[in-house]
Amino acid sequence: MSYDNSFHINQKNNPSHVAIIMDGNGRWAINKEKSRIYGHKAGVESVKKSISFALNHNIKILTLYAFSRDNWYRPEQEVTSLIELFMSALAIEVELLNRHGICLRIIGDITVFNNLIQDRINYAEMLTKNNNKLILNIAANYDGRWDIIKGVKKIANKVKKGLLSPEHITEDSLEFHLATKELPAVDLLIRTGGECRISNFLLWQIAYAEFYFTNVLWPDFDENVFDTALKSFYLRERRYGRILTDTTK
Ligand code: IPE
Ligand code: IPE
Ligand code: MG
Repeated sequence: MSYDNSFHINQKNNPSHVAIIMDGNGRWAINKEKSRIYGHKAGVESVKKSISFALNHNIKILTLYAFSRDNWYRPEQEVTSLIELFMSALAIEVELLNRHGICLRIIGDITVFNNLIQDRINYAEMLTKNNNKLILNIAANYDGRWDIIKGVKKIANKVKKGLLSPEHITEDSLEFHLATKELPAVDLLIRTGGECRISNFLLWQIAYAEFYFTNVLWPDFDENVFDTALKSFYLRERRYGRILTDTTK
């Protein structure tokens, strides 16, 4: 098996960093009168398609929201299945990711996972750490507010130890302590499943991201949906608070 290389377009001004809220697995399965877990399993195929697409379109960073800290409040059986799915995908796919030059990083609080999962994560990250074709961040047990608070605590500790003065705290100081440390901000944020919200995903990192919301449920996500999102991105005028087109004349 390998990632599909057949889907190509050439385009300038590519987003460097695309983030995706992969939502709608449960509803997709219910629509088919199957269990929600069936939907999560089907969603794994869409993850592979999104990785292939990113590789083929010179997207340098892909950040996927796989499991939020609030998802623990779902029924135990669903949570257990999601974690098992994550673990088996990690074990099965890591060699392939490595062969494709993908650097895998798990962002999120992994300390809650058992030792076996943590070992697999550490192995996968070590194996792929020098790859540079695509940085693939998987947000597992992630929470945007948690990310910021973690950073603030580290800064507070530096201040306490006299290593940093409060006047010298900058955006860079906080960014350095975020899970996405050293990576550029998100350019394009895609959410499937029809909801128009962030659900505590990357908060700091999406300050000037372009949003693309689609009703497509995650298991139906494919290269064509990703391509439509990308084409929508190309049409955006990113102004960052400035005026790019002179409309005063
Ligand atoms: C997204 O699909 C996957 C996770 C949150 C883990 P959902 O499970 O949220 O599917 P819906 O939104 O209930 O359809
Ligand atoms: C966001 O989806 C989390 C992931 C996709 C992992 P949710 O389904 O958990 O978000 P809400 O509950 O609709 O806000
Ligand atoms: Mg959902």
